[in-house]
Amino acid sequence: MTITEVDWQALEAAAVAAMNNAYAPYSKFQVGAAALTADGRIVSGCNVENASYGLSLCAECSLVGNLHMTGGGLLRAFYCVDGGGQVLMPCGRCRQLLYEFRAPDMELMTTQGIKTMDQVLPDAFGPQHLEETR
Ligand code: THU
Repeated sequence: MTITEVDWQALEAAAVAAMNNAYAPYSKFQVGAAALTADGRIVSGCNVENASYGLSLCAECSLVGNLHMTGGGLLRAFYCVDGGGQVLMPCGRCRQLLYEFRAPDMELMTTQGIKTMDQVLPDAFGPQHLEETR
C-alpha cells in the first residue's frame, strides 16, 4: 500500500509526543521527530544526549532506528519539532540520514512550509553513487 495523502497534524502530534521523551540534560534543547512511512506507519524519535557531549544522538537517529525496528521501508513525510513544539529544521547530518530512507516523493515540514527532500538536501550523496563505482 502506498500512502499519498499526508496527515501533517498527526505527524506534528507524534513529533511533539516524541519530543516529550527527549533526554537533553546538557543542551536543554528537546527535539522530537516523526515520519510517515510509505506503507502508512508513523515512526518517531527523540534526541538522546550523553555526558560525552559529542556522542549525543539527534532525534532523527532514533527515528531511523525505530523505522528499522518496526519493519523498515521508506519515509514519505517528516516533521521535526523543538521543545516548544515549533517546526525545527533537521541538521545537515540528519538530512543525510533521512535521504538514505526517502521515498521518491518524500516531503518535509520546514519553517518555510512543505518542501521536498531534494530542496533541503540538493545534489545529495547517496546509495546511487556507490552503485556507480562498483
Ligand atoms: N538536535 C536534533 O535532535 N536534531 C536536529 O536535527 C538538530 C539538533 C539535537 C541534538 C542536541 O541534543 C540538541 O538538539 C542541541 O543541539
